[in-house]
Amino acid sequence: MKAIDWTGHSLRLLDQTKLPEEIVWVECRTYDEVATAIRQMIVRGAPAIGAAAAYALVLAAQACTSKEAEVCWQELQAAADVLRATRPTAVNLAWALQRMLRAGEGLAAAALAECLETEANTIAEEDVKINRTLGQFGAELVPDGGRVLTHCNAGALATVGYGTALGVIRAAVEQGKRVEVFADETRPYLQGSRLTTFELMQDNIPVTLITDSMAGWLMASGGVDLVIVGADRVARNGDVANKIGTYTLAVLAKEHQIPFYVACPLSTLDLTLATGQEIIIEEREAKEITHIRDIRLAPAGARVWNPAFDVTPHQLVTAFITEKGLIYPPFTPAFERLFQ
Ligand code: MRU
Repeated sequence: MKAIDWTGHSLRLLDQTKLPEEIVWVECRTYDEVATAIRQMIVRGAPAIGAAAAYALVLAAQACTSKEAEVCWQELQAAADVLRATRPTAVNLAWALQRMLRAGEGLAAAALAECLETEANTIAEEDVKINRTLGQFGAELVPDGGRVLTHCNAGALATVGYGTALGVIRAAVEQGKRVEVFADETRPYLQGSRLTTFELMQDNIPVTLITDSMAGWLMASGGVDLVIVGADRVARNGDVANKIGTYTLAVLAKEHQIPFYVACPLSTLDLTLATGQEIIIEEREAKEITHIRDIRLAPAGARVWNPAFDVTPHQLVTAFITEKGLIYPPFTPAFERLFQ
């Protein structure tokens, strides 16, 4: 399954707001259209929005009409500022933009677009390779017959391909293990029911959909062997920002002595932040909670709080699954060693 497709002059995105009922592709021809698609969650998931933003900068460079490098560079930086502001929590977005700007720095206007296109393609190709590698490491943790609970969608739809948390599950299945997945529906945006369930069913991986509030009882009933989630930003101490509801799962997993794993590429680590308290948590519009599609679920005027992410303290994380292997506590020195 692929949700991002670069044509050479536009970025095609599988519209994730319409899944699973409709398969609709949106074609973005300008960086601004990509920014809107990220804001509207047509493309979502930390690595996927990073890759989309990288291609958006290629579109910005292609649109530069001036022959002067200085003018193109300023336009590129303005585009990066717009893209960076679309969603604040997932660090992969800022990471990809920074990497693109570094690749383009000091280049002549004529060379800029081509060089940025090569870099964006590399980011996209690396993402799939990284997910396959971390999937192999993570698959060691999944026993034959294992029952895995996951939250949100950290699959092919949230990345350039294969997925992080779902990549681990895919790798275990490819190794011949029997795996059963429980997918939290993931209120309010329903990434679990609309996307994860859809994605796994497409691959014939057994999946059972539950509401978020059923996770505790499922664990208490002995139905979960391990939890695997993705991440949007990980602080230096191992605190994890991920989809709202992840923290609740981690607390429940601790209570029931179930291992809680976070699968993410190293680009999700933000070593500039000492703890998760410094992570900006995106708040989204009330309508995501008061309505499903256009059906009203709450009285008009109801006060709503809609944080899109939460922070799981590092003490609740059993290990991180990365492309460099499994990282166990204490996380700070382990992370620092990875970047030495
Ligand atoms: O709001 P979303 O759908 O972009 O949130 C996605 C998540 O929280 C994912 O778990 C995370 O980005 C990891 S995706 C590999």
